[in-house]
Amino acid sequence: MEKILIEKRDFFKINMDSDNQLDIKNIFGNDNPVHLEIGSGRGEFLIQKALNFPDVNFLGVDIKEKRIKTMLRKLDLEKHANVKLLRVLVDENIKKWIKANSLEKIYILHPDPWPKRKHHKHRLIQESFIDALSKVLVLNGILEIATDHEEYTNWIIKLFKDRCNFISHFKDGFVRTPQESHIETYFETKKRNEGFEPFFMKYEKIGEK
Ligand SMILES: C[S@@+](CC[C@H](N)C(=O)[O-])C[C@H]1O[C@@H](n2cnc3c(N)ncnc32)[C@H](O)[C@@H]1O
Repeated sequence: MEKILIEKRDFFKINMDSDNQLDIKNIFGNDNPVHLEIGSGRGEFLIQKALNFPDVNFLGVDIKEKRIKTMLRKLDLEKHANVKLLRVLVDENIKKWIKANSLEKIYILHPDPWPKRKHHKHRLIQESFIDALSKVLVLNGILEIATDHEEYTNWIIKLFKDRCNFISHFKDGFVRTPQESHIETYFETKKRNEGFEPFFMKYEKIGEK
């Protein structure tokens, strides 16, 4: 698998450590906590969040080069020193290239819902993917997910319901009201304009599987 880490100025093959994992400390040049956004799209969330939390390292990944280029145009070299972008298709193999217990937070905002039943197998959030995310999250690490798609919401809630190593922060598994310091993404705005309100989910890793 070829991964490209992209910075404001240049594209380069990323440094992997001796275990063939992302050398996160080397990439950011410090030991600050690391938050990962999967499917950053046009980058509204990552770019604002990084300004709000300068002492957190933000790694944004997206499979589409066009999206990465859009984000690069918006990044300010000085103000966004805590942002790095990676073009890669994320799947359960994430546990191979990200160190175990190394991420404090993971955000997945408006993942493609693949609404047709025959396409459900393409959905990002699957049992094996949650297993992989639980490996890379630290204990008490947080996974935030948002989608406007009700059936995908129920799919996600069902997957987490029987797991004993994650708890939901929300009694019903979701809330419809944005939480404090919410950042609205391109997709959230688009779907709201079409009349679809998001479901917000928040899970905390409370143990190993
Ligand atoms: C529906 S858009 C949402 C973008 C953004 N999060 C937002 O809320 O506006 C989904 C994004 O995820 C990216 N994506 C989809 N599947 C992916 C995967 N498996 N790995 C990395 N990126 C993915 C797509 O390229 C796209 O930019």
